[in-house]
Order: sequence, then structure tokens, then C-alpha cells
Amino acid sequence: MAFIDPKTVPQRTLFTGEKIPCIGMGTFGSDRFTPDQVSSAVAGAIRCGYRLFDCASVYGNEDQIGKVFARAFEEGVVKREELFVTSKVWNDMHGKGDVLLSMAKTLKDLRLDYVDAYFVHWPFPNYHAPGCGSDSRNPDSKPFSVEEFMLTWRQMERLYEMGLTRYLGMSNMTIPKLKAVLPLVKIKPALIEMELHPAFQQPELFDYCEANRIVPVGFCPIGSPSRPERDRTPEDVAATEMPEVVEIARAHGVHPAIICLKWAAQRGQIPIPFSVKEPQYVSNLKCVTEDPLTDEEMETLRAADKNCRLIKGQVFLWPGATHWQDLWDLNGEITK
Ligand SMILES: NC(=O)c1ccc[n+]([C@@H]2O[C@H](COP(=O)([O-])OP(=O)(O)OC[C@H]3O[C@@H](n4cnc5c(N)ncnc54)[C@H](OP(=O)(O)O)[C@@H]3O)[C@@H](O)[C@H]2O)c1
Repeated sequence: MAFIDPKTVPQRTLFTGEKIPCIGMGTFGSDRFTPDQVSSAVAGAIRCGYRLFDCASVYGNEDQIGKVFARAFEEGVVKREELFVTSKVWNDMHGKGDVLLSMAKTLKDLRLDYVDAYFVHWPFPNYHAPGCGSDSRNPDSKPFSVEEFMLTWRQMERLYEMGLTRYLGMSNMTIPKLKAVLPLVKIKPALIEMELHPAFQQPELFDYCEANRIVPVGFCPIGSPSRPERDRTPEDVAATEMPEVVEIARAHGVHPAIICLKWAAQRGQIPIPFSVKEPQYVSNLKCVTEDPLTDEEMETLRAADKNCRLIKGQVFLWPGATHWQDLWDLNGEITK
């Protein structure tokens, strides 16, 4: 297998000054791959030089991934401190005491003493059954509440104070929500995970994070071309089929997916592409170490933004909410 020396992978700087890799591997199998397939890919990815892994309890594979980590440490493939492992608390574990329980389960499953960053996966306690259809609604779902979010965040801060996570993170946030909670936090998020690809660049949120010295982590960096049917609508734009992306890919002699990742890494977010296929995950890591996009190509891609959100979150809507856009505070205020 190809080995890409992690020293050749560019880095991002957290607010503490610590440097972490500019790309990682996602571990959500999108219902298409078994936990074993995903964890085998993680094993291969460690061997090929990945050092950042984006995990979550809801992905249902932390136990298998934990076995892979343990074996990699035992066999001396990598040291614990060389990895940056993230995980996330799911929406049904925001209640008092639950965040600690969720972290305990994650640590046990991942066979780690600590994670490097722990995220609130979605900023409200709205649960839906795994694999449910996009029109499924939970009558107990509620709109975002600063007070409830802060109760969850206080528990996250406790985990940080206990040394169970080295950093905290938020995910699926908006600027209005961040403006409401950032002044209240004791421990600020080092990372914010959000959907980012050439067809959905979220320039305002990206700039807001940078201005607050929070590193954006980009999920679905390739536009999640094989995402489940329930996450598709007819208006969706496929990042890998955008003419600008295809054209630049042709010029570099690579797959359009690779252009999405080069763009992401050069722009400054941390893309976390997913693939269980060795040639794909190897080329995804290698591409950030060679043949960069020109300034002109970066500008062409910037101008090609389609403002097209793919992961709309419909299943998290609360009774009375009318449209998935209610989750994303498009009018500049937290939607109630
Ligand atoms: N925080 C959140 O709420 C959240 C939400 C969604 C995702 N995530 C995270 O983000 C990660 C990535 O998102 P994602 O898996 O939905 O989308 P993605 O990384 O944009 O797309 C993954 C798909 O792209 C294709 N692909 C990957 N590398 C390729 C290459 N070199 N050439 C051609 N095709 C390639 C593969 O399709 P085939 O397998 O069909 O070849 C793969 O399944 C997840 O695994 C998860 O860790 C987080």
C-alpha cells in the first residue's frame, strides 16, 4: 500500500497553536457499508498515513473502529498521540448526565482514554429512528433553545475538565446560534463541523469561524455522491458534476472528487471524505500533498458556489415548523 508521510500533509492550527492534519477520514457508512468494512478502511487509512478520524456514536461502528485503533497501537503502526480522533454526542443523549454516559460508551468502544475532540452532533435533542424516511417526524422535537443547548454544553465542558476530551466542537450550527451561545461558553469550540463542498461553500459561516479562531471541518466534502435516497431532492447539485469542477479535474488529470478535496484543503477547512475503497482513500490523502490548484482555479470554484445544502435535516423538524430551512436560520435569527 502507498504510504503518504503524515509530515508531508499540510496542517491547520487550532486556537491553542496545536497543529492537526488538514484532511481526515469520515467513518459514516451511509447505510451502505457494514461496520467491518468501515473499520477495515480505517485500518488501511492508518497504514497509508491518515492521522485524523471523524467518528460518532450514531455511526454504529465505534466498537469495530476501537479494535482497529487498539491493534494499530499494539503493532506499533502509530502511537495514540499521533492520532486525532473525534467523536460526537447524538441527539438522544443531551439530557442531564447523558453526555457523560455517551462519552463513557464512546471511550469504551473506541478503546481510548480520551478523544481529541468531542462534538455536539446537532444542536437540539431531536431524535429520529435510524434509517427513517425524510417525511418522518418526532412529535417531541423542539426548536433550538439557548438554555437547553447550554445545559448540554456545560456537560461537554465537564468532560473537557475531566480530561476525557482535549477539545470541544459543535456541528450543524448557524451564525445566529453561534452568536447566542459563544458569549456564554467557558470552553470555546476549537472546531465546528458543517457541510462544505464546491456546491455549498457557506462563506459567511466559514468566515465567522475563522474570525473566531474556530477551524471549520467540512463534511460531505465530495458532495456525498452515494448518500441515501432519503437525503436527496430533485434540486440537489452534485459537486462532482459541476462543469467548473469537471473542467479543472480534466486539466489536472484526476477525478472530480480530488478537485473538491484540493479546493477544501487549500481554502482552509478540514475535509473528512469517506471511502472504504483503498485506491480512493489513498488518493484522497495524497492529493493534498501535490499538484495544488492555481489561484485562478480556486477563484473559479469560489464563484461557482450553488448554495445547495444536501443534508437538510428535515427529520429534525419540530411540530409547527414548515420547512427544512427553519433549521438553518436563513433570516438571520434563530427560528422558533
Ligand atoms: N456532522 C455531521 O452532521 C455529518 C453529516 C454527514 C457526514 N459527516 C461526516 O462526513 C463524512 C463524509 O461525508 P459523506 O461520506 O456523506 O460524503 P463524501 O465524503 O462527500 O462522499 C463519500 C463518497 O464519495 C465517493 N468518493 C470518495 N472518494 C472518492 C474518490 N477519490 N473518487 C471518487 N469517488 C470518491 C465514494 O462513493 P462510492 O463509495 O460510491 O465510491 C464515497 O462513498 C462522513 O463519513 C461523516 O464522518 C458528518
